[in-house]
Amino acid sequence: MSFPKDFYWGGAIAANQAEGAYNEAGRGLARTDITTGGSLHARRQVTYEFADGTTGKGDFVPQGAHGKILADEYYPNHEGIDFYHRYKEDIKLFAEMGFKMFRMSISWSRIFPNGDEQEPNQAGLDFYRSVFEELRKYDIEPLVTISHFDTPLYLEEHYGGWNNRKLIDFFTHFTETIFNEYKGLVKYWLTFNEINNTIMFLEFVQKNPSDQAYQSAYQQLHYQYVASAKAVKQAHQIDPNYQVGCMICGICNYPLTCDPKDILANRYAWEQNIFYSGDVQCKGKYPTFAKRLWAKHNVNLDITAQDLEDLKEGTVDLYTFSYYMSTAITTHQQEDKVGGNFSTGARNPYLKYSEWEWADDPMGLQYYLEMIYDRYELPLMVVENGLGAVDKLEDGKVHDPYRIEYMKEHIKAMDKAIENGVDLRGYTSWGCIDLVSAGTGQMSKRYGFIYVDKNDDGTGSLERYRKDSFYWYKDVIASNGAKLD
Ligand code: BG6
Repeated sequence: MSFPKDFYWGGAIAANQAEGAYNEAGRGLARTDITTGGSLHARRQVTYEFADGTTGKGDFVPQGAHGKILADEYYPNHEGIDFYHRYKEDIKLFAEMGFKMFRMSISWSRIFPNGDEQEPNQAGLDFYRSVFEELRKYDIEPLVTISHFDTPLYLEEHYGGWNNRKLIDFFTHFTETIFNEYKGLVKYWLTFNEINNTIMFLEFVQKNPSDQAYQSAYQQLHYQYVASAKAVKQAHQIDPNYQVGCMICGICNYPLTCDPKDILANRYAWEQNIFYSGDVQCKGKYPTFAKRLWAKHNVNLDITAQDLEDLKEGTVDLYTFSYYMSTAITTHQQEDKVGGNFSTGARNPYLKYSEWEWADDPMGLQYYLEMIYDRYELPLMVVENGLGAVDKLEDGKVHDPYRIEYMKEHIKAMDKAIENGVDLRGYTSWGCIDLVSAGTGQMSKRYGFIYVDKNDDGTGSLERYRKDSFYWYKDVIASNGAKLD
């Protein structure tokens, strides 16, 4: 196999999906704390209250209401998998598998409960320090996502979230705090998880978004790009050893037919969904096609000359991405559509689909790696990949050959890409320990090598169990990717 000697094998989680302890030690709320559970066919909802005390739930918090935790609703992220209290036990299991890297995120509202404070919450800082120290005990390198789907709710409700330029300063105050605090304990940082989701998610949630919705989405993205670039500059000033990456939701787009209209639509899908964010963060400037994307929806952005300077000076050191699936693009009327959460488009007849309708396409990973490396020539990391599936715990064991099969093929795809010249530095599979699904809020959509005894309704002992894939991955790491069978 072609994996370099110091390849970072590991796994990934996110604070809001794993930690729990949502209201402990001074933590403020995030949107996930007012979000209910859901399923493949029932979308998760947010709960809210109007000034007159009327409550409700829906896709969005309506004008005039604020997010509210309701007594008769269940919120899966409140407890997560209780990583907040069990991280020592969990890290020990990661070490047993031989992890070299562990990707995790810092909950912004644990450090700044509302997001606009000057002084950080010491208890929050202490918690992550203990986690990093625990990782160091086992020589596991942390890879830290700074913002993973958990902007403090207060910032959303009092400032309009990322629609407001002020968020750039709040974010960079947060980054400055943690870059100083964890100097020497962390080397690798990622600014925004799946930053490109803002547009993709908009088109997924609303079938035909208004121009105003696009205006807001592109504006939010611009402020995030500037915040990210400023954070990169800051990181390098605070510690020249810091390596900061972007994090893109890496969906591989294919044209469904060879109709030139499909070929062009496919190219435009790559541009809008994948290259737009990557180009700004890796090349430090908006691509030529940005004008076309903005014109299509009458978007007029607040971009200052200083912003453009910041973007230029704050390009990332590495390109990281999640990869779960590919999608097929067509301009033709399509009967056979894919209906999974976060996965849309036409059904690709050449691929198998998971129970959650995600296309299983290892070759798409090789395609993506080679295409992206060629475009940016930056070191790459696959920081999420895996199969969400239902597992069965029997006599303390979980037999999950489907997961092993999925990962084996994706590892082979990475191997081919490296052989073809791609500078791939690491692989942190998603949900290395079962956690709450971001899309559906379910526990039953499991990705882990470690089974967590918890059900969709919140019942369960939270006990951890090693799955068959746990032992398999341990061998993969020990053999540096050579022993896959
Ligand atoms: C990515 C996110 O979109 O995919 C993760 O970065 C998420 O937070 C993962 O959990 C898998 O999606 P899901 O919906 O199966 O949890």
